[in-house]
Amino acid sequence: MPSWGKVVLISVLVAVVVGVVVGTVTWALMRSDSTPPDIIELDWWERTIIYQIYPRSFKDTDGDGIGDLKGITSELEHFVEMGVGTIWLSPIFVSPMVDFGYDISDFYDIHYEYGTMADFEELIRRARQLGIKVLLDYVPNHASTESEYFKKSVAREPGYENFFIWADPKIDANGNRTVPSNWISQFGGSVWEWNEERQQYYLHQFAVEQADFNFREPAVRQEMINIMQFWIEKGAHGFRLDALPHLFEADPDDHGGFFPDEPLSGNMFVTSDQIGYTTQVHIKDLIEIYDVVYEWREFADKWQEDNDSETIVLLAEAYANVSMTMLYYGDERDRIGCHFPFNFDFITSLRATSNARDFVYVISRWLTYMPYGNVANWVFGNHDNSRAPSRFRSNMVDGLNALNLILPGVAITYQGEELGMRDGYVSWNDTVDVNAINQGNPDNYLEYSRDPARTPYHWNNSTNAGFTTGQTTWLPVAEDYMEINLQAQKDAERSHYKVYQSLSRLRRMASLSHGTHYLEALSVNTLVLVRHLATYNTYALVFNVGTEEDTVDLSRVTFLAEPMTVYESSVFSRRRTGDAISLGELSLQPGEMLVLRAPPT
Ligand code: GLC
Ligand code: MG
Ligand code: CA
Repeated sequence: MPSWGKVVLISVLVAVVVGVVVGTVTWALMRSDSTPPDIIELDWWERTIIYQIYPRSFKDTDGDGIGDLKGITSELEHFVEMGVGTIWLSPIFVSPMVDFGYDISDFYDIHYEYGTMADFEELIRRARQLGIKVLLDYVPNHASTESEYFKKSVAREPGYENFFIWADPKIDANGNRTVPSNWISQFGGSVWEWNEERQQYYLHQFAVEQADFNFREPAVRQEMINIMQFWIEKGAHGFRLDALPHLFEADPDDHGGFFPDEPLSGNMFVTSDQIGYTTQVHIKDLIEIYDVVYEWREFADKWQEDNDSETIVLLAEAYANVSMTMLYYGDERDRIGCHFPFNFDFITSLRATSNARDFVYVISRWLTYMPYGNVANWVFGNHDNSRAPSRFRSNMVDGLNALNLILPGVAITYQGEELGMRDGYVSWNDTVDVNAINQGNPDNYLEYSRDPARTPYHWNNSTNAGFTTGQTTWLPVAEDYMEINLQAQKDAERSHYKVYQSLSRLRRMASLSHGTHYLEALSVNTLVLVRHLATYNTYALVFNVGTEEDTVDLSRVTFLAEPMTVYESSVFSRRRTGDAISLGELSLQPGEMLVLRAPPT
């Protein structure tokens, strides 16, 4: 017979054990999705969604068929509803619009078609109220030939003489003037343009009207910092840094006083005046670029510290190989670069024919090469490339957006991606992109034109998709706007927009904001991406990127356990939120994605 003392002791022990177990379970359930206080706090930009606005095509409020700042301000709530924390505006500065704002003639003022400085200040004020960060486009490589800088440099005004890259002509065997080197512009033709007045050539890596600054001139470096400071003081939270790989060209001082020719690439698919004809060893990815970027970072950090402000972020646009790209984060000597260089791998390394292994390989490459402690990011489209559903397939819209929103790091969305907007058709007669006009003809211009990705945003199914109150638009509205538009997708029970919205909410859950990731090709065509954090629900994206139905087995996937349910699915999927899914056989239609919720492990 046990003594009463023992009974009491055992009862107390049982009670304590039961209490602890029940308490732990309740506690685990209670916190299974929320962000706990003991998790490292993230800086505002580290898990944000950045939405790229192409202002010309976003929303027009004065009926001239051109989007404007007031249009952006009037729709800021839309970003709150979508879960977007940051907007980046393509250039809004004074410009002759040869390259639609990437040819700036006054870096310190707003282009009249977009509004006034007061409109900009109002945009910033409203965005701050709503908690939306605003990033501006910063175009350091070149200025419009209409800029004061250029005019003064042409006139050899003291202080401006070396603001641009000027060169004396070479004289050929017949005594004729020729270009200093065989360098080719991004938009076709020589980088060299003769200037009658100065009797010298100037260099332009892009359009003839976009003269390259001389970054070896201290006054240029200082002016660039001044411009950055001006817009930070106006309220910008940072910048997207344009065209960085083109910042420097080989210095004649290092080449016996001459601009050295580039080797010919042997590429037979381009003509002698097209990019790719030479191998760009003297005009792209020069190592001096990074010193400038590190200098900018130092400036931004110092400004932030001196003004006790929130983080000012710098994001680099750099189409470059993986090692040159990663150097933008910082170098081996612990110098710090930008917050991140854009990850263009989904644009440059994946396409409609890519299978799940290609996806996994390309995604892992970024995560593998990224220096430890940095933040990743994912880009699916922008104003320079064909839109995602057109490059991949329309049935992949939700899967691609899900990858963007569920992968670790910052998600970047180009305007319209949340609706699955496709390239618009722009006839040769309507073509305005300088890249297409320079290199194209009525038969081949679509290979070069960036206009199809820039057609106006589809707000609703009224005339001109609700983009303008006017009769005409600067680029035609894509024909599919009746079918694909924001209002229709808000009204529909299921739509790309609603999937986007629900996944941007999911993004805030602890396992997505702070968890680890696990990525694998389950078969040739289906990939799985798991986000896991101990004691929190696990979420897994399963995505068939192929063109045929595929059946996979989830039972070997780490961190997945039953009971599992569907959290979100492609618009066309037969599965609905809440449907139970077992770890065994799972069939997916072509392009179908499912986001699954599994219990904590
Ligand atoms: C960047 C921009 C592009 C522009 C070029 C020159 O690549 O994204 O639109 O034409 O720089 O500024
Ligand atoms: Mg307008
Ligand atoms: Ca340059």
